Amino acid sequence: MKISVLGGTGDQGLGIVIRFIQAGENVIIGSRKAEKAQAAVEKVKELLEKDDIPNLSGMSNEDAADKGEILILTVPLAAQMGTLKSVKEYVNGKILIDATVPLDTVIGGGPARYVDLWQGSAAERTAEILDGEDVKVISAFNNISNSHLMNFNEEIDCDCLVSGDDLESKKIAMDLINKIPGIKCIDCGALEKARIVEKITPLLIGLNIKYRSHYGGIRITGLKLD
Ligand SMILES: NC(=O)c1ccc[n+]([C@@H]2O[C@H](COP(=O)([O-])OP(=O)(O)OC[C@H]3O[C@@H](n4cnc5c(N)ncnc54)[C@H](OP(=O)(O)O)[C@@H]3O)[C@@H](O)[C@H]2O)c1
Repeated sequence: MKISVLGGTGDQGLGIVIRFIQAGENVIIGSRKAEKAQAAVEKVKELLEKDDIPNLSGMSNEDAADKGEILILTVPLAAQMGTLKSVKEYVNGKILIDATVPLDTVIGGGPARYVDLWQGSAAERTAEILDGEDVKVISAFNNISNSHLMNFNEEIDCDCLVSGDDLESKKIAMDLINKIPGIKCIDCGALEKARIVEKITPLLIGLNIKYRSHYGGIRITGLKLD
């Protein structure tokens, strides 16, 4: 399955790219600028100490969305609408996994303040922006920090809370994400559950600051998963 990470040049996107490359998937890095995506490919080669990664390429977000079978959106909230509008014509018949967390930047710090959205969650906003297209929106990766993803020689000690209305697409997304060592996907239900899941991220950011960590995450216990 060809995975395109839109905004894959950033912190979260690059971590996801590396994890899927390690899992043997075909990955495309998307960016507003094709050259920046190609530079990100070179960075991944350097990080993984490989001269060539045949299953990795870099191109514009539009080309990446066109060529990808599963799209993953990893851009800040402020870039969500613009990025989605730029790729809207290429999403038909595809699954789009949204990692967006509606966060604003607090003065003097990183993105930590939760922003209430009219649509209820960033994932539902994505579905609204893409309304009219035959695309299945799935919410995932919101609570897994870039530090976990980039610590790519270690397993990820986190669950991935996944929400989405289309059961078949959600299963495809979960099966894919479960290929990342250590991650356990939990089906949280309908897409509107993203309202709860996205709110956990600023809590984790606060805990990481308080306990001087980069690896705060969550595990759901007591469930028998298939
Ligand atoms: N970082 C984390 O640990 C983490 C954890 C969980 C969820 N998330 C969520 O994942 C998403 C991405 O986070 P991130 O930390 O990777 O963000 P980021 O590094 O700030 O940005 C990711 C990419 O988005 C594009 N972008 C940035 N600003 C833009 C703008 N104004 N207009 C259009 N494109 C823009 C850039 O790609 P190009 O310049 O190449 O186009 C950039 O490389 C966010 O919604 C965040 O809340 C992040």
